[in-house]
Amino acid sequence: MCGIVGFTGRIDARKFLLDGLSRLEYRGYDSAGIALVQSGNDSELGILRVKGKIADLRAAVDESELNGNCGIGHTRWATHGVPSEANAHPHRDCSGRIAVVHNGIIENYAQLRAELIAKGHDFQSQTDTEVVAHLVEEFYSGDLIEAVRATVAQLTGSFALAVLHAEHPDTIIVTRNDSPLVLGSYEGGALVASDVPAIIEYTRDVIYIGDRDMAVLRSDGAIECYDATGAVFEPTVYHVEWDLEDAQRGGYPDFMLKEIHEQPRVIRDTLAGRFDVVSGELSFEELPLSSEELAAVDRIYIVACGTSYHAGLIGKSIIEAWARIPVEVEVASEFRYRNPIITSGTLVLAITQSGETADTLEAVRLARKAGAHVIALTNVVGSRITREAQTVLFIKANLEIAVAATKSFLAQVALLTLLALHFAQQRGKLSKEQVAEIYAEMRKLPEQIEWILANSHEIEHCAKACADATTALFIGRGVSATTCFEGALKLKEISYLHAEAFPAGEIKHGPIALIDVEKRTPVITVVPQSLTREKTLSNIEEVLARGAQVIAIATYGDKRIHELTDLVITIPSVSEYLSPITASVPLQLFARAIAIARGCDVDQPRNLAKSVTVE
Ligand code: AGP
Repeated sequence: MCGIVGFTGRIDARKFLLDGLSRLEYRGYDSAGIALVQSGNDSELGILRVKGKIADLRAAVDESELNGNCGIGHTRWATHGVPSEANAHPHRDCSGRIAVVHNGIIENYAQLRAELIAKGHDFQSQTDTEVVAHLVEEFYSGDLIEAVRATVAQLTGSFALAVLHAEHPDTIIVTRNDSPLVLGSYEGGALVASDVPAIIEYTRDVIYIGDRDMAVLRSDGAIECYDATGAVFEPTVYHVEWDLEDAQRGGYPDFMLKEIHEQPRVIRDTLAGRFDVVSGELSFEELPLSSEELAAVDRIYIVACGTSYHAGLIGKSIIEAWARIPVEVEVASEFRYRNPIITSGTLVLAITQSGETADTLEAVRLARKAGAHVIALTNVVGSRITREAQTVLFIKANLEIAVAATKSFLAQVALLTLLALHFAQQRGKLSKEQVAEIYAEMRKLPEQIEWILANSHEIEHCAKACADATTALFIGRGVSATTCFEGALKLKEISYLHAEAFPAGEIKHGPIALIDVEKRTPVITVVPQSLTREKTLSNIEEVLARGAQVIAIATYGDKRIHELTDLVITIPSVSEYLSPITASVPLQLFARAIAIARGCDVDQPRNLAKSVTVE
């Protein structure tokens, strides 16, 4: 997720651009930049970009000669290319008179880049965004609107774009697809930004354009809107009531809920560009391992901590089921001290959202010293893990602010699922048809998550039943047992209610003694359609017989579960191996509802930090 801003008006644009980027810094801050049509010299664009935060950009602008009434700006959360001045936006064409800022992922950028290079265009960055500037240059012959329209027709993927041209000193062209964009105007001029916080102090009357619509912002404050066919339309104007803080949370009461609701987009971004429909193969350009090298892998260690460790447990089940490679999942703080057996056939996956967890970093150093190839799965470009592992796979969860990992966990599981598919395909364990079928089912996950989010009333009802408990048990079988481990962690870390998860088959080997009939101990069970569902139903009857209160996460339409308990949270029907992604969403909302009922701070739970950078 990045932040873009744009202003064209009768006053200097710098203040709006820099203040607006500061208001969007929660969207990403590894590098930033602005471009301005230079006042008094219409054939030139001035540009300034820094690796670092907005404060660094502001200092650089203050020291520069840069000025102008029409400009665009960007704060970056790197997805393609490391954080650097060269990869910072705005990006320009060969002439330097076209500048573009972008939020999103252009899925077909590699092909477009190759075609443009073949036509003689000279690229300065590793980013997907730069292809837009060169495409506009390619199509421009005086009409900027038409040039941008022709450019957009070439793009697949998600984008919010703002385009400047030195020959059009009072004009900004904007367009979007999937990524957010909000427009507004006031007596000083016309404004565009990724999100309301950047413009709310200038106007509360805002315009949202649709996918592949375009808008032209003029210095007199006029905003002309065109639909995807090029027809002019009168936009709807919305009045925003939020205060600034609400606006930065996107109107949600806390970042955790905002990030839970970002999960459909995160899954879409994780899947984007990973499957080549022509070859029928998964695309992992970052992975330098050939099919022969993957065939030689005889053991995988997954090392991680906390929620990332739980993602690794799910990854183990799926990699072993599909690729038939033995996988051991290790808590990093244990792995690094137990002298693990590492041979030339060992592959290590290190999973860390922050890329800064001390124990995971040390586990990676040990594995590398022993000769293993280490693949890091992380969310933060430029984090320390990216310098320690030979291969880095970035999850596309964007900035996660709440301490409790939610969207980053789902992104980790989705990426591990794709990796398992890739390993299975490269080792000849799954056919192209099987891979295509599983990938097609994964493409439905965003809508299924949206369905769960839209039907979350059951969750509030179930949470109320547990809010006063002193302990909660979670049970499930197979991958659902791991979903329970993560659900228990979410509950205890934000509500401080002790929670413990067990494979359902273990409940009779001791834990069932924890059920207190007087307290009606809550037992949360994850029991989607699966080969072991009947066994879990028997375990539910066993705990009910001892006075437990059962909350069930079950597949929509499962009549039997409603006969056993009236506290049922339904999820759409998915294949068992994809169920951790759908079943985890209600458990996140369940934990949050209980935490709120108990008066806890869901974004910043006591005693915790977002990244444990010490041992
Ligand atoms: C999860 O909600 C916690 N925030 C915590 O367990 C976290 O997953 C763990 O500290 C690992 O962090 P990492 O993924 O950044 O390495």
